[in-house]
Amino acid sequence: MSLAPHVWPETAAVTGGRLFVGGCDTVVLAEQFGTPLYLLDEATLRGAMRAYRQAFAAAYPGPARVHYAGKALLNTALAQIVVQEGLGLDVVSATELLVARRAGVPMAHVHLHGNAKSDAELERAVAWQVGAIVVDTLDELARLGALTAHLAEPQGVLLRIAPEIEADTHVHIATGGAAAKFGLPLAVLDMAVARVLNTSGLRWLGLHAHIGSQLFALDQVVATVEVLVAQAARLRDRFGVTPVELSPGGGLGVPYTADQPPTDIPRYAEVVSAAMQVACTRHNLPLPRLTVEPGRSIVARAGVALYRVVGRKGQRWLHIDGGMGDNIRPALYSARYSAVLANRAGEPDSELVAVGGRYCEAGDVLLREIALPPAQPGDLLAVATAGAYTLSMASTYNLVPRPALVLVGDGRARLIQRRETEEDVLARDMRL
Ligand code: LLP
Repeated sequence: MSLAPHVWPETAAVTGGRLFVGGCDTVVLAEQFGTPLYLLDEATLRGAMRAYRQAFAAAYPGPARVHYAGKALLNTALAQIVVQEGLGLDVVSATELLVARRAGVPMAHVHLHGNAKSDAELERAVAWQVGAIVVDTLDELARLGALTAHLAEPQGVLLRIAPEIEADTHVHIATGGAAAKFGLPLAVLDMAVARVLNTSGLRWLGLHAHIGSQLFALDQVVATVEVLVAQAARLRDRFGVTPVELSPGGGLGVPYTADQPPTDIPRYAEVVSAAMQVACTRHNLPLPRLTVEPGRSIVARAGVALYRVVGRKGQRWLHIDGGMGDNIRPALYSARYSAVLANRAGEPDSELVAVGGRYCEAGDVLLREIALPPAQPGDLLAVATAGAYTLSMASTYNLVPRPALVLVGDGRARLIQRRETEEDVLARDMRL
């Protein structure tokens, strides 16, 4: 077998028949930290962050900002890396905002998103002076107006629009259509802007749109930029205000299997930047601050999940000690992954098997069909591209504690999120 290089972390290598990531032997890590175990390769993670920053600095003549979308995976250590690499952070809950604060992310570089933010979340964001609250509905705008009435310094807001663009991706992660639950319909945008301009505690920064996730076709991203700029120009003509910031969201796709193309961050930056410049020239609008919000394309490839093979059922099934509790994506989106046997990575892939998770549900199948060496109980299965929307969506289904997360680099392994214990799981449990 060979590792498809664009699917595995940059540092992934097979030495002596074993998979190494970040200079660490995965077989040793699995023994040391237990399984299931998630690894995060620091070089791949920082590399993707730098690629975004450098690509936009090179491609966009105006100010550009890259905000990591924390919903893909968030913990304090990761947010500290976000700060070290000069990115901002997008959060979608009060607790994600708390993590931003614990990690020392400058609040000016934090945006709060969400289609159903609570008052408590809005209050925290206002009190901590986040750079922008991305407003999704007229109701939210009214509540935010009341919450900010006392402010000496107005709170910045971006208005999220529904650009009426159907992204070419899984229906569960397409968010830009006219019927989607996200964003202000274009028909009410003028009303929303008028309200922001008439609300003393709010300052209008600009517009935001996010059409979906796991996107490969960039023409829809270009179309999104065109809608943002056209709307901004229309609002300027009507209200005499010019946006400081426009954001086409995140969504750049990543390959999960060898047949999918590699993520091309420089090309994405060039296409988005060019679209912004062309549209702004056409509408005679000064170049705004351009903010992009990648999640998956920063963290997915850095992640590797390690599972112990628990047993076999006949020729077809391998059973492992994790599954939909730590990675719901195959069950939820029919997501596909690549995998190897980490302790026998030099051997030929001589059989096709399905990998069933440990959770008591027929839909808990991590890999429907994968070629591996003949696996036996005790072998170690490594799944690639496991960094995004896995641990962040993990549950304690079947009351199984959630895995640990280890940051690996230069032969060093650092625990950045410990394994959940039975006590953790039962901490909220009450007797009658
Ligand atoms: N900005 C906004 C407003 C978003 O809603 C999202 C993702 C992002 C940025 C980041 O998108 P990314 O670059 O990661 O594609 N759980 C699903 C993905 C849900 C995405 C939700 N929003 C999955 O596992 O495929």
